Amino acid sequence: MLYFEDMANHPEGDIVSTPPQKTEQISISSSLDPITIGSKRPSSTDIKIVGGRGYDLRQPIPVKYTQVRDRFLAARKNFWVPNDIPMGEDKLQWNTGQLTEAEMWLFKTNISYLTAGDNLVPDNLVNTIFQHITANEMRQYLRWIMCEESNHVESYLFILESYGLDEKGQGQVFALYQEMPELVEKVNWNLIFTNKLNNAPLGEPEALRALLENLMSYYIFEYLFFPLGFSQIFALARKGKLRNTAQQYSYIWRDEVGHSSNGVWLIRQIIRENPNIWDVAMQERFRTMVDEAIRLETAYAHAVMPDGGILGMSVHTYINFAKFIGDNICKNLGINPLFGIKEHPMPWISEYELNQEVNFFEGRVREYQTGSQLTWD
Ligand SMILES: [Fe+2]
Ligand SMILES: [Fe+2]
Repeated sequence: MLYFEDMANHPEGDIVSTPPQKTEQISISSSLDPITIGSKRPSSTDIKIVGGRGYDLRQPIPVKYTQVRDRFLAARKNFWVPNDIPMGEDKLQWNTGQLTEAEMWLFKTNISYLTAGDNLVPDNLVNTIFQHITANEMRQYLRWIMCEESNHVESYLFILESYGLDEKGQGQVFALYQEMPELVEKVNWNLIFTNKLNNAPLGEPEALRALLENLMSYYIFEYLFFPLGFSQIFALARKGKLRNTAQQYSYIWRDEVGHSSNGVWLIRQIIRENPNIWDVAMQERFRTMVDEAIRLETAYAHAVMPDGGILGMSVHTYINFAKFIGDNICKNLGINPLFGIKEHPMPWISEYELNQEVNFFEGRVREYQTGSQLTWD
């Protein structure tokens, strides 16, 4: 699976490829359905990524979407734990005044925001998106993604503990997402779509639209908001600061690449199976969401870098990076880009990418490694 896939060359063709199917008036399969003796086992034709009807969701076969299972197996192979990364250098820097006030502020707001985001994303999955998924292999991978998000939150906690901050000190950092309007608004943005989907009746076209919007918001978190956040710490690491923390972030980023690849695939698969949903209004809605995301990211950037940036990364470059990714989101979904940023504003960020299935920015196929260590010197 390519990350920046060329829509025209995609083996499954254009995302609008199949006519709408007639569905029997049987309820959409739900994990709350009781198991009944003699009930139908699904065939490949029965199984739908969302809105599948008349079969038990607990059946792992047939595996219709084999690429989703491959993603799950790749993610499992890459599982890591924060405690394996030595934190001594960062602890020393943190406690001996080697970070400027601006760098300290950036770090604190960054880890607070990411911690809130990494709580919110799996909650959105479990509260809403998961209820709509009717392919066992996707349910399996989403369960694993939730496990990885828990590991990310643990990583953020472990980072602050390793600096030697006590609970009061940690609390002052983690509370920032509740105190700064720019962080509150950015995190709350996802909840708009969570709640909208939660209130939409399952099986109605209105729910499918709400699901797509929610998935777009999810994709924006995984593919735009999170990597932008990581880039702030990578910029510090380039100047020799908080390199251990940056290594934790590199491992998190590798997971997020898998999540965002899966997120965009899911959006496209839903559209393939429900082509009527992909009308002009829906496409415009997606473009508006990218625009909203960039507005939120811009406000956040100014709040966390009030002096116009840090050594090695200006707010201007940072916002252009956000727009560059925003354009890529549009391209990945076959809609017109908004900003026209042609060149990657932060090409150096690839130095912080761990080996993985696909290079984040270039779509190169790479090898997997388990427990690989970064060497930056
Ligand atoms: Fe995460
Ligand atoms: Fe994620």
